[in-house]
Amino acid sequence: MEKLIIRGGRPLSGGLAIKSAKNSVLPIIACCIMSKEDILIRNCPKITDVDNMLNIIESIGGETKWRGADIYINCRYANPRLVDANLTSGIRSSIFILGPILSRFRYAQISYPGGCDIGLRPIDLHIMGFRRLNVRVEENNGMLLCDGEGLRGGIVNLDFPSVGATENLMMAGVLAGGKTVIRNAAREPEIVDLQNFINYLGGQAHGAGTDTIVVTGTKKLSGGEYSPVCDRIVAGTYLAAAAMCTGDVTLKNVRPHTVYSVIEKLARAGCELYETHNSVRLIAKNRPKAVPKIETQPFPGFPTDMQAQITAMLSVADGSSMIVENLFENRFRYTMQLAKMGADITVKDRVVLVKGVKALRPAATTAEDLRGGAALVSAALCADGVSEILGIHHIDRGYESIESDLSRLNADIRRAR
Ligand code: UD1
Repeated sequence: MEKLIIRGGRPLSGGLAIKSAKNSVLPIIACCIMSKEDILIRNCPKITDVDNMLNIIESIGGETKWRGADIYINCRYANPRLVDANLTSGIRSSIFILGPILSRFRYAQISYPGGCDIGLRPIDLHIMGFRRLNVRVEENNGMLLCDGEGLRGGIVNLDFPSVGATENLMMAGVLAGGKTVIRNAAREPEIVDLQNFINYLGGQAHGAGTDTIVVTGTKKLSGGEYSPVCDRIVAGTYLAAAAMCTGDVTLKNVRPHTVYSVIEKLARAGCELYETHNSVRLIAKNRPKAVPKIETQPFPGFPTDMQAQITAMLSVADGSSMIVENLFENRFRYTMQLAKMGADITVKDRVVLVKGVKALRPAATTAEDLRGGAALVSAALCADGVSEILGIHHIDRGYESIESDLSRLNADIRRAR
């Protein structure tokens, strides 16, 4: 079994370019199902979630190929009746293929999607939305059967601004007749990116980044080359790690507006932050200061995908902090692992109380989910001595060789069997 071995206690320093966002690349790959032409997606992370999505595309007859860090896709011969249940049940993002398949083929059938075990992740909003677009959806024995013969634009009022439901419904509307209006839409940068991609291929979507998105149905999508937005969560993870370990790091290819809520909290923790239009530099000279309260919220609020990493940082802060998780239940399992390293953390329902300790001690820990795993890596980087982290397949779902990135930032970290 692979593990990460980390000799902690060194400040982080240096520069690193951040790749395209996992959460942009996944829906963009799904969106390619609607085009019969060649598409190249630039600067993608080689991570298991992306490979799984490419396997799904191949399983329905699409052609995919890595060309360096770019992904080539052609879905001319896609046949959605072939979706492999073994592939879709293992990855939550497989839900994204429903919208594009329905839009192009008017019929879709997949098994219930799987994914990161961070709590109940229902898909009722996706299903309700499809029904508003006149799709007949039946759930049968763990399968979703969607008859989109009557698919047409309509108005969908989401109860909650779900990222996945917003993206899925946008894509369903692309080749549907009429206007699809999504109200209370999610506003994440990855949704703006999906809109840009749809429009780049000749679709007609506007409003992404606000709470109302309108997609006007079009006849077909073309091909081309596209560079997705940077991964704001990978960037945030490394910034929080540097805040925790002290140091001076510059992350390139980062759009600062995508990480404002995170850099705001890091500034409150006492870090110096400098931004250009496509980079962020963090200088941390001292132990971080506590931040009294952080609540996860949909964008532009503080991202739930940074909750674990910021809690790890606050575990060595001077003072006490409170973190409230509003999006997912069961997203605190990593705190038990941090406790093994001496962190003083109390969890009650969706609230975490962290009393900062002066130092963490090295330990053997196990990652149980993607971002919780990243938090354990930061903690190990900060603890003076050698730590080991197991369960790193979770981390590999979202970070392309986290050990190479962090080595570039002066960390002593390696992967071993
Ligand atoms: C996406 C991100 C994930 C991030 C999350 C929240 C991708 C591939 N993943 O996940 O990294 O943590 O946004 O920013 O982009 N919900 C329902 N019914 C639904 C759909 C969602 O109740 O049909 C609930 C979920 O259980 C959760 C909340 O809405 O409590 C947010 O989920 P959602 O925004 O849909 O997250 P994902 O798209 O799954």
